[in-house]
Amino acid sequence: MNCEITPLSEHTGAEVRGVDLSRPLDDETRARLNQAFVDASVLVIRDQSLTANQLLAGVQNFGTVFLQQNSKFALPECPEIHYLSNQDRYPDGKRYIPGAGYHTDHSNAAEPPKATVLLAIQLPEKGGDTQYVNLRRAYEGLSAATKQRIADLKGTHVYQSKHSERKLIGLTDEAKQKVPDAVKHPLVRTHPESGIPSISSIRSGSRKSTGCRKATRWNCSTNCSHTRRRRNTSIAIAGSRAILSCGTIAAFCIRPMATMTIARPAISIGLC
Ligand SMILES: [Fe+2]
Repeated sequence: MNCEITPLSEHTGAEVRGVDLSRPLDDETRARLNQAFVDASVLVIRDQSLTANQLLAGVQNFGTVFLQQNSKFALPECPEIHYLSNQDRYPDGKRYIPGAGYHTDHSNAAEPPKATVLLAIQLPEKGGDTQYVNLRRAYEGLSAATKQRIADLKGTHVYQSKHSERKLIGLTDEAKQKVPDAVKHPLVRTHPESGIPSISSIRSGSRKSTGCRKATRWNCSTNCSHTRRRRNTSIAIAGSRAILSCGTIAAFCIRPMATMTIARPAISIGLC
């Protein structure tokens, strides 16, 4: 398959054209896409009009699917995929904005997924951007003394952190039995494929990060971020091992969109 891969910024993201994920990919194309994903941390694959089951099959070119922790938003015809929408509300009637606030999906899992996949199905005329923060670059920018100080620190990751800017929809009793209560992960992790170190997620799902919060907060401010304007039928694959995401999609988008997660070495998917 003759696909074209173009960088989207100096440090984060690559755009892919000429790929049809509704059909099997040849080995060479699959290898190119996976390498581009490792290098750019975010892949945006254009022009994918897919059914839920085609999305599920297409995403498995990048790994196996990680099951979402909260099944409330599962698509009936394909429960591995969840929708994101601005049409859902908390029990008290307030609008629920999924994906808002910087976070990495499922960082509270013992083995977190390697990526989150979003397929934009219906977007509004305005809004719906996603901001990605490159944590590899954030780590690069730390002083040698700070790198040494945080080298052995760990953060505690939970489903709902008191530090989170958003309140998640509560888990069912059944899900609570399966979702880890609190998991520790190193603050600095090394990407298993590239060998490049980065800071791990310390917002949203992380409860404590033992002295590292101040040191790293804000290298991630301006020189590491990249904002993507979503387009209908575009798929975004964001790497959980080097990226923080902040979505505004649900504040503006109209049901349905889709999301899923790729486990390790797999993905989390969502229609958004
Ligand atoms: Fe997310």
